[in-house]
Amino acid sequence: MRTMQSDYMHWAKFKAPVRFALTGSEVPHFRMDSLPLSIADLDMDGASHPRYAPLRERIGRHYGVSPEQVVAADGTSMANFVALAALVEPGDEVLIERPAYDPLIRAASFLGATVTRFERRPEEGFRLDAERIAAAASQRTRVILITNLHNPSSALADEDELRAVGEIARRVGARVLVDEVYLDSAVPPRPSAVHLGPEFVSTNSLTKVYGLSGLRCGWVLAEAELAERIWRVNDLFGVNQAHAAERLACIAFDNLSAVLGNTPEMLRRNRDAFNAFAQARADLDCMPAEHGITAFPRWAGGDTERLDAGLREHFETAVVPGRWFEMPEHFRIGFGYPAEHFDEGLKRLGAALDSLR
Ligand SMILES: Cc1ncc(COP(=O)(O)O)c(C=O)c1O
Repeated sequence: MRTMQSDYMHWAKFKAPVRFALTGSEVPHFRMDSLPLSIADLDMDGASHPRYAPLRERIGRHYGVSPEQVVAADGTSMANFVALAALVEPGDEVLIERPAYDPLIRAASFLGATVTRFERRPEEGFRLDAERIAAAASQRTRVILITNLHNPSSALADEDELRAVGEIARRVGARVLVDEVYLDSAVPPRPSAVHLGPEFVSTNSLTKVYGLSGLRCGWVLAEAELAERIWRVNDLFGVNQAHAAERLACIAFDNLSAVLGNTPEMLRRNRDAFNAFAQARADLDCMPAEHGITAFPRWAGGDTERLDAGLREHFETAVVPGRWFEMPEHFRIGFGYPAEHFDEGLKRLGAALDSLR
């Protein structure tokens, strides 16, 4: 049956809030009003611009690709959806990593694709294993879908690993769709996979690393002919993007280092604090957090629904239970918080783990 929803997304949006949440996967919101801008900069005269060129040019410049390779979309979410919609027909196979960000699986299923899976294993640092991917790919595979950095583990796929996946895709006549929404939080940040060849399509937004989820500024990068097809699909969902948001996104791109601010330092500090915490605990098993905004430790105590419930009930904090990523003994923890919040959350997590021993 065709999927009509993502239960994970519904849970993520409407779960009860707690004071010291560690569930997030984005950095604190950036205040656009801290930049020197006025209401006139937003061009609020009702004009609506097809494929608003100034934004595509800025995104293209950011990556060193031509504006013809840039498709705008509402967040990485819609970018993923329109890219998949342009590439997949009902009955085609979409090969998706496991564990995976649930809406990716649901979007492929909604489009009528047959979803097949390959494993990223914790004991291998969740790396992409080309042999396993090759074994799972078939002549019906149209898209190999990965996240880089990997959500939930933040594992980084390097250029050689990506090229190996590209090689498999070329062999079966598929594309590699790489959701790069966390890539700019790699240490150091890495170039987009779109530079590795025409079989690569990447998606991203200003949401996670730049703290601008409210702008919904997302994009697809693809070779120009495919980008044109994706634009045409986009026409089915909305004529144009919201223009005031496009203007704000241009302003954000013009001030991107100010928008990024001390985010890399904040993330590094919290990863270090988490690594020290996890290493000192016999009940947690986790590769050292080197990149990204999240980690995905395994808890020796079993199903982490129980851990999350205990955290919520007694400690005013929360994590993302691993069942949402098809690995119930793991949980996802987010690093995108001010130091005091993160340290307090971590302290409470430690107390909860102790209480459940
Ligand atoms: C892998 C991945 N892609 C996309 C998104 C959504 O991004 P956006 O807010 O830009 O739509 C998320 C959010 O959690 C994510 O983890």
